[in-house]
Amino acid sequence: MSEPKKLILNLFEMNTVSHISHGLWSLPGNNRHRFNELEYWTELAQILESGGFHGVFLADVVGAYDTFRDGPETAIREGLQIPSNDPLLVIPAMAAVTKRLGFGATFSTSYEPPFTFARRASTLDHLTKGRFGWNIVTSYLPNAARNFGLDGEIPHDRRYEIADEFLDVVYKLWEGSWDDDAVVIDRERHVYTDPAKVRYIDHVGEHYRVAGPHLAQPSPQRTPVLYQATGSPAGTEFAGRHAELVFTGGRTTADFHRNVASMTAAAERHGRSRDDIRFIVQAGVVVGRDDEEAADKWRTFQSNLSVDGILAHGGARLDLTAHPRHVTVAEAVAKAGLEPQDVPFLPLHKTVGEALDGLRSSREGRFFVAGSPTTVADQIEKWLDEDGVDGINLRQYHSFGTAQDFTELVVPELRRRGRLEPAGGEPTTLRDALFGRGDRLPSTHIATRYRGGANLDVPVAPLRFADHDQRAA
Ligand SMILES: Cc1cc2nc3c(=O)[nH]c(=O)nc-3n(C[C@H](O)[C@H](O)[C@H](O)COP(=O)(O)O)c2cc1C
Repeated sequence: MSEPKKLILNLFEMNTVSHISHGLWSLPGNNRHRFNELEYWTELAQILESGGFHGVFLADVVGAYDTFRDGPETAIREGLQIPSNDPLLVIPAMAAVTKRLGFGATFSTSYEPPFTFARRASTLDHLTKGRFGWNIVTSYLPNAARNFGLDGEIPHDRRYEIADEFLDVVYKLWEGSWDDDAVVIDRERHVYTDPAKVRYIDHVGEHYRVAGPHLAQPSPQRTPVLYQATGSPAGTEFAGRHAELVFTGGRTTADFHRNVASMTAAAERHGRSRDDIRFIVQAGVVVGRDDEEAADKWRTFQSNLSVDGILAHGGARLDLTAHPRHVTVAEAVAKAGLEPQDVPFLPLHKTVGEALDGLRSSREGRFFVAGSPTTVADQIEKWLDEDGVDGINLRQYHSFGTAQDFTELVVPELRRRGRLEPAGGEPTTLRDALFGRGDRLPSTHIATRYRGGANLDVPVAPLRFADHDQRAA
């Protein structure tokens, strides 16, 4: 009999108060307000390591949510991703108290130059002994653009073209600038690094000019594990070329299958295959010692979710809370002087009251389960075997309750069923933990064309998308 498919287990985090479970930070015992303390991160990392989590995934934005009600006040009141701190800076602290936990952190390609990021990423890969992953985002908040000298957002597909060149630059630095045997540390000859094995990259492109050499020596993985979340055609093409771990949505099994198929087709267009990508879904798991205890917890979470927070996070153009509950959403849209296409995610035919109540539950689709450890493990096995997901990114309702409950109640059951590795294996790099075939990118990946300094002067065909102006975020 073949071995059961194993689960990749990630915790979804952000260096802030209220990441996605708005309103729940104020529940008794929730530690979210402690995110400024180093101890918050070290305690969390130790819980995750003891639960055999492959990684903690840190989201990030570089602006405030200020479109709902025409200002940032709702986000500020709710702690909705403001205050928030830099995701990269908490990683070394977590790495110091763990040996296996991986760290996937978000950094945007739209606003800061690639040279400094490449150096920071190499530093983190060294300090974590090869456990660093980078979630590539192009950023979606208008306020973020205004923080970096722009009047508004760069059009959606244009952002992916810039990101593609950003990636080309960092690949040259990470993969091509230094040879593996460049650092010799020869005390007798007084040679730290052999200069014949380090080179300029001399990148000259449409958006960036970078001479190099890379300032950091090769780290265990060289290129960090590349993460991406996407839904658009441009983003999918980009992921097909670059991403190794993809966050894919899907409210139904069919949605998920469609997303995987289009991403796989994009990967194949770039000489890669299904095996080169791990597909991760965001999952809500509420576990109790029995189904009843879990249902109780879920009721508490649901009734405390903040509708204001959800609306502000979504950048809603319509403030549903300003309309009577009995009118239809369509009537409220007309009253506010908006068009139906301004509120693509709202059910026009329902009443405002029904729509508001729906916001609390509608965020839980196919990949949600509340129940006993057996109920939860049964469902996760279905996600693995029937849907074909490779792993989950666990949504936090309560910190550290969500991670602790999963570790204490679900992990032993998954291990019994052969769905998670037993505790205490040899530490590896993050890439090896995810793919089991070594620390470095496989040779099918476009970044590897620069190995040994090859191709640095041979331009790569950039990704191009036609519809810059139509898709302004
Ligand atoms: C699980 C998940 C995590 C994400 N994390 C971030 C993030 O931390 N920062 C960010 O700017 N965007 C984040 N996004 C948004 C994506 O980067 C992306 O913009 C979005 O999925 C839409 O896809 P598109 O860019 O192809 O249109 C996330 C999306 C998902 C599904």
